[in-house]
Parts: sequence; structure tokens; C-alpha cells
Amino acid sequence: MPPFHHPCFLMPLAVLVLSEIGNSHGHVGLAAAASSLSSDTRTTFQLTSGSSIPLLGTGIGNLPHEEITQVIHNQLEAGVRLIDTAHASNNEHLLAEAVASYDAHAGAGLDPIHVVTKVWYTHLGYERTKISVEESLANLQFSSIGSHRQIFVHMLLHWPRCNDDIPWMNCEEEEMNLPQRIKDAGPPPHLNKENAFIDSWKALEDIFQQHQDILETTKGSNSPLIASIGVSNFDLDDMKRLLQTARIPPHIYQGNAWAVFHDPFLMNYLRDHGIFFQAYAVMTGILKGRNASSTSYNTLSRTSRELHATIYAENEGAVITEATVVLAYFIRHNIGVVPRAASSAHQRENSINAVHSVFPHLTETQIENLHLAIPALMKDDSNDKPPVVSVSFMNSLTSPIQVHWIQPETEKEILVSQVIHPGSVDVHGSHPGHRFVAYDPDRTVRKEFVVDAKYGESQHFYVEL
Ligand SMILES: NC(=O)c1ccc[n+]([C@@H]2O[C@H](COP(=O)([O-])OP(=O)(O)OC[C@H]3O[C@@H](n4cnc5c(N)ncnc54)[C@H](OP(=O)(O)O)[C@@H]3O)[C@@H](O)[C@H]2O)c1
Repeated sequence: MPPFHHPCFLMPLAVLVLSEIGNSHGHVGLAAAASSLSSDTRTTFQLTSGSSIPLLGTGIGNLPHEEITQVIHNQLEAGVRLIDTAHASNNEHLLAEAVASYDAHAGAGLDPIHVVTKVWYTHLGYERTKISVEESLANLQFSSIGSHRQIFVHMLLHWPRCNDDIPWMNCEEEEMNLPQRIKDAGPPPHLNKENAFIDSWKALEDIFQQHQDILETTKGSNSPLIASIGVSNFDLDDMKRLLQTARIPPHIYQGNAWAVFHDPFLMNYLRDHGIFFQAYAVMTGILKGRNASSTSYNTLSRTSRELHATIYAENEGAVITEATVVLAYFIRHNIGVVPRAASSAHQRENSINAVHSVFPHLTETQIENLHLAIPALMKDDSNDKPPVVSVSFMNSLTSPIQVHWIQPETEKEILVSQVIHPGSVDVHGSHPGHRFVAYDPDRTVRKEFVVDAKYGESQHFYVEL
């Protein structure tokens, strides 16, 4: 956890990141959003691939296998059309069987289903990735088990590499345990950590292109079609490397919800390249934050109680909780969410109906309160978030200062700390080599800083004369 962490330091950053995401896609910014909430019923997001994807889905990535059928039946019944999983979860075939068994009893006119799935890091490299994608598509072949529903697949690289520094990754052992035909298909990716994902991306580009051709010529198919390609858990440097050689930039980035508020560099980069952010760990982030930041959780609870009372008065079946409000908040800012919920009570709170019932009733005061509370709750650490350098700026001047990040490619200065009062400290997640500049109000003082700490370390900058 970074030093000097205080929720209020992070608030301006969160507002900046979210409002800019909205603007980048031609949607209203945060201020305008407040006044247009009542008319907003957006359920999907238009990707740069040309396809759209539901903003609210559900995750079965780490759900016990025996719970999958019931969860998927409930979610389909509640109108969910996006399911997140991964090849490594070994449950794509269970997903397909669950949809097919639901469809056997459903009427005609079935909506398409979107499935996000991923290539595990043992399958990085051109040939290994192709095999992984083919296996996923075969697992998701609904028509072979009796469903005629159209399925759109969003295929991501799950991680850029295996990294032995992450406690649960075991690069050698996982390689050893692979089937021989995978080992034979291409070199071990953990011995080629900087380039294997580049080769994988080429495979995804080629497969995406083939599927686009099928889509254009047949205008649909009973086989799963790849509607977009993307990545997950890449850090900013990995993204830059990927985009240097990519013919097709990623359409989707799936990452820890923490990054939305606390990794402005990554978020700005994704925004600038039109890459849609889909968040996991939304629920775990909030629930962890409940213990770490009780004031923020109380603010969120108060808001959800107020909204529940209003919405319940119109619809006695409605249940609006903290979770419902947080999901609405993310979706409202065009961030996709895939909460996992085994319990039917949680599924109801996370449902499209519940989440969308919130929008028309949110007041501007409630929105302002959420801008403070949700980033603070989301600041808790997580084992699988991308690594950062924690940088802090101590204002040792007698006047307030602003801090900007200098975008490397353009030298554009992007505001990251709206105001740091004399004697106060502001903390950000950053990356080695990044530059910042601090100004006093009339810009007579200009101080530049370069991050030379390594990932996982902290670096403190003193803004002084
Ligand atoms: N790309 C990646 O590397 C990556 C990493 C992690 C996860 N994911 C994906 O993201 C999905 C989401 O999983 P996650 O691990 O991020 O977990 P999450 O959705 O943040 O949290 C799941 C937990 O929250 C609880 N929950 C769900 N709805 C709730 C509500 N309304 N109120 C209170 N608690 C609620 C669930 O309880 P119950 O189950 O008891 O209802 C469960 O214990 C996964 O299934 C997976 O598909 C991707």
C-alpha cells in the first residue's frame, strides 16, 4: 500500500480519468452526464472492431463447475447476454452446455450471446495461440449441442507473460504439465517473455480477419464468430510494445477495476487508442474496501439506501444495494463490468433491471458523493493488479501546486493532481521512466521529476524552491 494514502488525494484523478474516457468515445463527459442520467438507457458499447458488446455481463471464470449451469440459466433469464470466462478456467464447454440446455426450453428469437474468453500465458506464441483459440471455439460450438443461438466471441490474451514474481504463477511447472502437442507447436513462452505475446497477437489478428470475412460474406453463422480481440492484465509498457507492431490495435482491455481510478497512465493510453475497458474485481474491490475505508463505504451505503427507498416505492420487487449502485456507476462511465455471483440474491442486485433502474433517480449530490466514495473504496491492493511504482509528491512550497504527467509520445501535460496544498502529499501509481511536472498557481515555479524507482518500489518527490 502506498504511503500517505488518503482518499481525497485520489478524487480529482478519478474524476479526470472517468470524464476523459467518456469524452473520448463521443459520449457525454462527467458534468454533462449528471444532467442526462434520466434519459440514459445505454446497455452496449460500440467497439472499434465494428461490433458492440454489452456493458454489463457476468463472470464464470472462477465459479465452481457444479454451479455453472444454474448460474447461467438464472443470468439468461434475467437478460444477461455477456459471459466472461477463460480457456484456463476449463469451463467453456460447460458454458455452452448450459446455454444449450436453457435454449431447449426457450422460445424462438434468441438474442445473440457474447462470450469473452482468453488465451493462457502457456499458450503464447503464434502456433500455441492458434491452438488455444481453435480449442475455445470448438468448446463454444453451441450448434453441435442443439442451440441455434448466434455467439460472438471476444478473444483476449489473458496475461502478457508468465512471471515467477507473481506468487501463484509457476512458469517451469506449468510448461512441464502441458500436453505434448502444445509443447511441440511452439517454443516455451516463458523463455521468450518479451516477444511471445507479440507473436500471439499476430495470430489473433489473422484469426479476427478471417472471421470478419465470414461475417461479411455470410452475414451470420451458427458457428462462434470472433467479434473482437483484446488483452488483459497488460501494463502500459506492454501496451506500447504491442501497438508498435500491431496491424489491428486491441479492441478490448480487461483489467482490475482498481486501474480505472488508480492507473491514470494506462487509462489515458487506452482512451487515446479507443480501447474499451472491461473491469473485473469490481465486487471484491468494493467488499475489501468496506473494511479499509468505512467512511467511504458509509457514503455508498447511504446513497444505495436512498435509491432503494425511491425505487422500491415504484416497484416493490426492487432491491438496490451498494453493489447495484457501483455497477451503475461503472456502466454510466462506459466501463464494462463482469461481476461473478453464485448467490441468486446477488444476481438480482447485479441484474440489468436493477442497475438500469438506478440511472433516472441519481441526484447530482449522490453522483458527487459516489465520485468520492468509489475511488477510495477501490484503492485497496490486489495480488493480480499490474505492477506500479508508487510516487508521492510532497508540496514544500508556501503556495498550492498542480502536478501533471508528461505523456512520452506527445510531451502533452496531463493533469493528475488538481491541487496539493502546502505541506500535503499526493500519491499516484506510475511506471519507471515516467516524467511529471509541478507548477505553482501563477507558474513561476516549474519543477520536473523523473521516476527512476523500479516496479514495486516507492519514490518520494519534494516540490521545493
Ligand atoms: N482477466 C483476468 O485476469 C480476471 C481475473 C479475475 C477475474 N476475472 C473475471 O471476472 C469475473 C469476476 O470475478 P472477480 O474475481 O473479479 O470477482 P468479483 O465479481 O469482484 O467478486 C465476486 C464475489 O463477489 C460476491 N458478489 C457478487 N455480487 C455481489 C453483490 N451484489 N453483493 C455482494 N457481493 C457480491 C460474490 O459472491 P457470491 O458468489 O456468493 O454471489 C463473490 O464472492 C470472474 O468470474 C472472471 O470471469 C478475470
